[in-house]
This record gives sequence, structure tokens and C-alpha cells, in this order.
Amino acid sequence: MTSTNSTRLTVLATGGTIAGIAGSAIAKDYRAGEIGIDDYLEKVGGLGLGAQLSGRQIANIDSADMGPGVWNPLHAAIAEAMADDGCRGIIVTHGTDTLEETAFLLDLTLPADKPVVVVGAMRPADAVGYDGLRNFANAVRVASDPDAAGRGVLVVMGDRVFAARDVRKVRTRGTEAFRGFPRESIGLVTPASLEWFGAPWRQGRAAAFGWTTELPEVVIVYAHAGLDAESVRRQIGDATRGIVVAGLGEGNMPEAVRTALVEQARNGVAVVRASRTDEGLVDREPEDRDNGFIAARALNPQKARVLLQLLLADGISDPAAIQQKFDRR
Ligand code: SIN
Repeated sequence: MTSTNSTRLTVLATGGTIAGIAGSAIAKDYRAGEIGIDDYLEKVGGLGLGAQLSGRQIANIDSADMGPGVWNPLHAAIAEAMADDGCRGIIVTHGTDTLEETAFLLDLTLPADKPVVVVGAMRPADAVGYDGLRNFANAVRVASDPDAAGRGVLVVMGDRVFAARDVRKVRTRGTEAFRGFPRESIGLVTPASLEWFGAPWRQGRAAAFGWTTELPEVVIVYAHAGLDAESVRRQIGDATRGIVVAGLGEGNMPEAVRTALVEQARNGVAVVRASRTDEGLVDREPEDRDNGFIAARALNPQKARVLLQLLLADGISDPAAIQQKFDRR
């Protein structure tokens, strides 16, 4: 617990580099998810952040291992904190590698009544220039702000606030590893200040999807020069309900792969064309209708996969109906 201030925030810890330890300032490797939430809150206790923080350990993992096993208890803990009248906002600490997928999944399945802020760090806690303290202090500033509600799930990294739909990790190293597309950051934050660009857009709106503990199998096929239909077929099993193509440029793929995927679409598998490039829209093409394909629009492959899983879990499997939902994201 920190401070005597009445703003009470719930901190849900899942691990990652923000809770990582290297053991020495010159060590090249480190272990993510080492520091427990109680020790972490003791560490930030002296910063004078002006909020009362109550912590809960949901997991302590490298986010490479993130998935339904952690998402289920995490979602339940957030729902519980949202229902707690005394809790003003929720902070989720998370590894940066899959942070965007968790943030987007939560964004689609939670109401926007209270701020939910996902935060991580690029350097382990004992590194020189550890960014986790600053990012965390920034997250406290955002989660304490009543104006943060109604914007969906937010991500705070490197003095910037991103919307879950837009945020993506674009660099392997360095503290400026996150960007937003198509919107860049939606706010600027320091431990002492917060500037929003624009008004809340989701006020009073319910979650787009109910929570489900069963997400259907959706695979991502990474397109490249020389990709053949056989290696694509090897990725697809009997349980596969959807395929997202991390396509070339604007969602393109070799002709043989296209033919193989048209066959999958005819068999009722949802096929989404996204792009393996960092940024840019994948728009609908005239032949998508005949092929039974869906265009991912602004979503990158890993986020398109999350949305497709939720749609399929919700019983939406017709390509035109799926396309409509992608058009609205
Ligand atoms: C992880 O994603 O858990 C490791 C990498 C990071 O947090 O930056």
C-alpha cells in the first residue's frame, strides 16, 4: 500500500520485464517475471504517487507464455475491481511482447466505465535506467484521472498513452518501443502531468463482446517469397476455425496460397487478410467477395486474430458479417 490519498487503484500483476531481474548492470540476459507484486509496490511506495495501491498477483510470467490460462483470471479480477465502488482505476503490469494482444482482448470485452491501464517496461528492474518505475508512475497518473474513463483499455509506455486498438510494439529494444496506428498516441503523460488529445469516445458504451473462456483456434499464416500451399496446409488442423494471413504489402499472397485459402473459406474457415508490414490499411478488394475473404483494415495480424476469435466464439462466421465488424474497428 502507498500513500494516504483516497484515490484507490487496483494493481494486477502478470510478470514481464517490468518485474524482471538481470542480477547485474552488465548482464546481457535477464529473467522476466521475477519480482512479486508486494515487493514491487514496496519499491514504488517511496515515490509519493498520491494513490492508494492494492496489488494482486495474477501470474508472474514472460508474456511469451500469455494466453487463456492467465487471461481468464485476469479478466475476472478486473471485473471484480470494476464492481468495487472504492476502486477508481485498474493497472495491469504485463510483459511488452504480447501486451498489445492482451490490451485489445480486454478492450473488446470490458465496459469503459473505469480506467484500465496496461503498462510494461523494456528494461529489467535492476537495469541502469529502468523505465518500469517511470512507466508505472505514469500509469498511476492515468488510472487516477476521471477523464481516462470512456476511452477503453489504455496502454502507457514511454510517456505516451495509447488506445488498445492502435498500440503496437515496433522495436525489440529501447524505451520508445511502442507506437500507435492509425492513431498515434492519444495522450502525453509524466508522473506530474497528463494531456489528452481529444475527448473520451466510449462513454457509457457496453463491451463489444461477453467474456468467453473458450477461444476457437485461429492460426496466423506468415506470407513470404516462396511460400507454398503445402506448408500452409500443414498449419491448418481439424480444429482450425479461422486463418489470418500476415500478408505481403496490402495483404497479398502467392497465387497457390490464395487458391488453397479460397478452398478453406469454401469449407467454412474464416480467412482474414492482414499485412506483415508495420503500418497501413488492408482494404477490401473486389475479388474478396468471391474468394470469401475478409480484409483486416487497420488491425495487424495478431490483433486481427484476437477479434476473429471473439467473433467466431460469438457465433459470427459469415464473411460479410465478420467484415462489417472489422470495418468498425
Ligand atoms: C515479456 O514480454 O514478458 C518479456 C519482454 C518484455 O516485457 O519487455
